This record gives sequence, structure tokens and C-alpha cells, in this order.
Amino acid sequence: MHLLRIDASIQGDRSASSALADLVLDRVTAAHPAVPVVRRHLGQDPLPSDAWGNALAGSATPEQDRNERQRHALALAERLATELQQATAVVLAFPLYNYGVSQHVKAWIDLTVVGAEHGVRLLDGTPTVLVVTRGGAYGPGTPRDGWDHSTGYARRILVDHWGADLTIVERDFTLVGVNPALDEFTETAVTMRKTAEESAISAGESLAARHAA
Ligand SMILES: Cc1cc2nc3c(=O)[nH]c(=O)nc-3n(C[C@H](O)[C@H](O)[C@H](O)COP(=O)(O)O)c2cc1C
Repeated sequence: MHLLRIDASIQGDRSASSALADLVLDRVTAAHPAVPVVRRHLGQDPLPSDAWGNALAGSATPEQDRNERQRHALALAERLATELQQATAVVLAFPLYNYGVSQHVKAWIDLTVVGAEHGVRLLDGTPTVLVVTRGGAYGPGTPRDGWDHSTGYARRILVDHWGADLTIVERDFTLVGVNPALDEFTETAVTMRKTAEESAISAGESLAARHAA
């Protein structure tokens, strides 16, 4: 088993998505203590924002004519694609920021796409847990139903483009208790948090059960 974990929160120790990803990982490492885990934290160590353009330009340039920046960017893109392809289980913690996918996650996806061999499904059948956290609530019938433009996009890339066997763990209303305007939802938020934590533990147990260490 080779586990890849990628975090993307910009909120450091207060990250709700990382806390849920911890629960997933805890169940895996409880069952397989020696499992190697490759980690990336896109929020704390962002990928260079110019790497995508350089990698794309490099990929369209004969190898001997590539400049240094293009070579570095392409090497990074290929490393990201290899990391994903070599993983036998993947845990992603991607928060909702400004109704969409964070720029850090987008940079990772764009670079990884450039680094992959054409037509290769990088996660073909790989069990993948996507943790999504949102400050507000976006369920059916809520005023902002449909405003989460991150989860659908992530599913499009992970499942339809890369072939992942995807489980989504979601927690809404993480800003209840932080933003007083949401105080009336305190009880709902407690229930949502508990459900999300149970779902994270169950996703971790299922990852662990699918793998011999
Ligand atoms: C810059 C920023 C933008 C945010 N935008 C949204 C948003 O559009 N919708 C929402 O429901 N919550 C939004 N939030 C709240 C986050 O989704 C919430 O804090 C969530 O827990 C983030 O995951 P994290 O705790 O792992 O960082 C935003 C938070 C920050 C810091």
C-alpha cells in the first residue's frame, strides 16, 4: 500500500478538512502501521504559480530547446503525475474557498495533467477519499444549493478524467461558532460535524480493509 495525502487548507492548525483527513488516515495507520505515506500540503507549500505555463510551453518545445524554467516545471509536473499514479490509496482534503476550488488545488490539477502521459488515467480504480469542508451549507433546498463549484469540478477530474474510485466525506457549517450570524444553526452544525467524523472514520476503515499493508 502506498498512501498519498494532499491537504490544501490555508487555515493552519484550525483546518477542518485536515482534521477529517487525520481521522481517515488514523484508521489506515491503525490497521497498517508501516504504511508509507507521501504528503503534500498545497496550502502551506504552494506550487509555483508560473510552473503550469512553463510546463505547457516546455511540453510544446523540443527537449533540447527547452529553457531552464521549462525543464524544472516539466520535471515538477511529471513528479506530481507519478506521485498520483504510484499511490494505491489517496486522501485529499480540499476546502471550499470563494465558492470554488482553491487556487492551490487548481495549480496542482493543472500541473498534474501536463505531467501525465497522454490518455493515462492516473487513478484508474484507485480508492480515493475526498474530504470537502464548507463554512456554510449547500444541501438541497438551501439558499445556496448549487453554489459549491468545487466538489463537482473535483469529481469531474478525479473520477471522469483520472478514473478514481471516489468516496466523498463532506462537512458543512464549519463557520458555525466562528461567524455569529450562523448561531441559529448550532445544533445542526453539531450533527453535521458528528456525521462527517463518522463518515471519515468509515472511509478510513474501508481504505484499510481494501489493502494488505
Ligand atoms: C478565504 C476564504 C474563503 C472562503 N469562502 C467560502 C465560501 O465561498 N463558502 C463557504 O461556505 N465557506 C467559505 N469559507 C469557509 C471555509 O469553507 C471553511 O473555513 C472551511 O472549514 C475551510 O476548510 P479548512 O478549515 O480545512 O480550511 C472560506 C474561508 C476562507 C478562509
